[in-house]
Amino acid sequence: MKILIIGGGNMGLTYAQSFLRSRIVTPDNLMVLCRTYEKANHLGETHEGRFFSDARHCVSEADLIILAVKPQDSPRMFEQIRGLAEPSQVFISIMAGVRIEAIARELGVNKIIRAMPNLPAQIGAGVTAFTSTDPVTRIELVMVQNLLNTTGKTLYVEQEAMIDAATAISGSGPAYVYYFMNAMIQAARQMGFSDSEAELLVAQTFTGAVDLYNKADLSCEGWIGKVASKGGTTEAALKIFRDTALHEDIVAGAQAALERARELGA
Ligand SMILES: NC(=O)c1ccc[n+]([C@@H]2O[C@H](COP(=O)([O-])OP(=O)(O)OC[C@H]3O[C@@H](n4cnc5c(N)ncnc54)[C@H](OP(=O)(O)O)[C@@H]3O)[C@@H](O)[C@H]2O)c1
Repeated sequence: MKILIIGGGNMGLTYAQSFLRSRIVTPDNLMVLCRTYEKANHLGETHEGRFFSDARHCVSEADLIILAVKPQDSPRMFEQIRGLAEPSQVFISIMAGVRIEAIARELGVNKIIRAMPNLPAQIGAGVTAFTSTDPVTRIELVMVQNLLNTTGKTLYVEQEAMIDAATAISGSGPAYVYYFMNAMIQAARQMGFSDSEAELLVAQTFTGAVDLYNKADLSCEGWIGKVASKGGTTEAALKIFRDTALHEDIVAGAQAALERARELGA
């Protein structure tokens, strides 16, 4: 199987490295199409795989093509590969907000998978929601899932609308977590910890809490109950969170992200 990744940026290179590390493709069968000759040349010297700057030299060779440019760069990218794409090729788009219908119309293809990965994919700890069109065969879908699994976990969704929902939860989600961490780091500094001490306390608290959550069959509320005792310190913090409707704010924030994802794809 020959794979072409269009866009040698953060996500494109994350995929390239994950596929190679997991030996799912050989460097000979992995191609990356860059915007400029200079970038292709530079990446060719520092990375494994074959790097191109001319779509005519790589698109028709690929069995599977990953679209990993920014959504605003998609019109020019479509223009470059239109006419070179073939109906037998499978397309995976990770572009936020670009609808399957738009890709089909722009490229005249129908085997399309739309996926929403997230940033921890860079260390193999991401989560990707994905959906596909009917012409993608079961074998092709399994192959794609194996590829996506090299960057973490995957969740297949039937409805394309759920890709927007995943964008609002897991796509944007790492930023929500960092926002909460940042506030806790600031609180720790105010209490007298140095920057590095504050970061250690907060980062390990997040890692430990999530690891524990993943290892046992207990809800978040159940775990909160194990930390907070009536009239204790945790309860004092939770009372402020409840009084200031922090929970509702987080739900509203995710909802705003969903609405923005829908607007971008409209
Ligand atoms: N980063 C995330 O956490 C994340 C999560 C989920 C989904 N996504 C999606 O992933 C996509 C890529 O994001 P990113 O963070 O990897 O962006 P990025 O680092 O900016 O990478 C995009 C790359 O595409 C290249 N490019 C632009 N137009 C091109 C063209 N016509 N032909 C070939 N290459 C072209 C750019 O080249 P130049 O550098 O030369 O301009 C750049 O290297 C976006 O659509 C985004 O919505 C990202």
